[in-house]
Amino acid sequence: MKNIFISGGAGYIGTHCVISLIKSGYSPIILDNFSSSHKSVIKKLQIISGKRVKFYNVDLRDKKKLRSIFKKHSCEIVIHCAGFKSVEKSIEKPISYFDNNIGSTLSLLECMKDQKIFKIIFSSSATVYNDSQPLPLKENSKIGKTQNPYGNTKYIIERILMDLAKNDSRWSISIARYFNPISSHESGLLKENSNGVPNNLIPYIIKVAQKKLPYLKVFGKNYKTKDGTCIRDYIHVTDLADGHLALLKNNKLKKGLNIYNFGTGKGSSVLEVIKAFEKQNKISIPYKYTKRRPGDVAVSYCDPKKAFKELNWKANFNLQNSLIDILK
Ligand code: NAD
Ligand code: UD1
Repeated sequence: MKNIFISGGAGYIGTHCVISLIKSGYSPIILDNFSSSHKSVIKKLQIISGKRVKFYNVDLRDKKKLRSIFKKHSCEIVIHCAGFKSVEKSIEKPISYFDNNIGSTLSLLECMKDQKIFKIIFSSSATVYNDSQPLPLKENSKIGKTQNPYGNTKYIIERILMDLAKNDSRWSISIARYFNPISSHESGLLKENSNGVPNNLIPYIIKVAQKKLPYLKVFGKNYKTKDGTCIRDYIHVTDLADGHLALLKNNKLKKGLNIYNFGTGKGSSVLEVIKAFEKQNKISIPYKYTKRRPGDVAVSYCDPKKAFKELNWKANFNLQNSLIDILK
C-alpha cells in the first residue's frame, strides 16, 4: 500500500480523489483544517470505501505540526488540493486569500523539502488562462491577466512551482488545471459544500430544482456564442479524480514540471446546461437573464489531448450523464 498525502482531502475534489485512490490500492492520508469542510465527511469516506481513512486536522501553515506528521509516515507524494476557492470572497478578503492559498503552499513546500518529499500534484484552475486567446485552451496557451485575488493566487502558485522546478532538479511537479468540476460520487454522500447561496452554476440549479431558490439568474445573454450565453467545459468530479490517479499510475511524476488540462474538451452553454438538467431530471428550471457577471470570460474549454497522449486519461462522462443522480 502506497501512502499519498492529500491536502484539502476533506473538500469536494479531495474526497473524490481519496475514493479513487483507495479503490486503486493507495493509502491516502488527509491533511485538512476543515475550514471549508466538515469532519463528518471522514465517516462518509469510510462508509463508501469500507476502509479506515487516516486524517490529520492541521492547517498547512502550521509548519511544526506538518513536519511532525511528515516524519510519522513514509510517503513520497503530496496531492495539494487545500485552498480557498470563492472568487467573490477573495474580492472581499484578498489578504486572507493570499495568506491561506499562497502561505499554505509555501509552508507545505518547505516542509516537504525538509522531509525530502519532492513530488507534488497541484490543483490549479482554468482561471489561469483568463485572457482572450485561441480555443481550445492548450497547456502552452498564455496564462496570466487573472481577474481576481483567487485567480491571482492560482497564477502566483503556478509561477512559484515553475521557478522551483527550474531551479531545483530534485522536484517533480505536476500542475493539474481543472476546468469546471461538477456532480459527485454516485452514493450521494459527498457533495460540493454549498451552504447559503451558491456562486457556481450547477449548485445554483440544484437549489432551484429543490425549490430553495425561485429561479436561476443567467448572467448575460449577448455573448458572442451560439445562444448568447457563456460556454464552459464541465467535467465530472470522478473523472477529475481519476486524472490524479493517471498521473500517479503512469509514473508521469517525472522530474521537472508537467502541466495537464483536466477537462472534457467540449464546451456547453448555460442554456445547454439548463436543458440537459431539465431532460435528465424531468424537472423545469425557471430562469431569468440578468446582467453579465464581472470577470466572466465568454468561452472556456480545453484541449485535453496531452493528458490522453501522456497519461492515457480522458473524461468518460459527458454533460448529460454527469447529471445523472445529481439530485440524490
Ligand atoms: P473545497 O473548499 O471543497 O476543499 C478545499 C479543502 O481545503 C477544504 O476541505 C478546506 O478545509 C481545506 N483547506 C483550506 N485551507 C486549508 C489550510 N490552510 N490547511 C489545511 N486545509 C485547508 O474546494 P474544492 O472544490 O475541493 O477545490 C480543491 C482545489 O481545487 C482548490 O485548490 C481549488 O482552488 C481548486 N479548484 C477547484 C475548482 C472547483 O470548481 N471546485 C476548480 C478549479 C480549481
Ligand atoms: C468560477 C470562477 C473560477 C473558479 C470556478 C470554480 C468566476 C468568474 N470564475 O468559474 O475562477 O475556478 O468557478 O470555483 O467566478 N452562471 C450563471 N448563473 C449562475 C452561476 C453561473 O449564469 O448563477 C454562469 C456563469 O456566467 C458561467 C457559467 O455559468 O458562464 C459557469 O459559472 P461557474 O459555475 O461559476 O464557473 P466559472 O465561472 O467557469
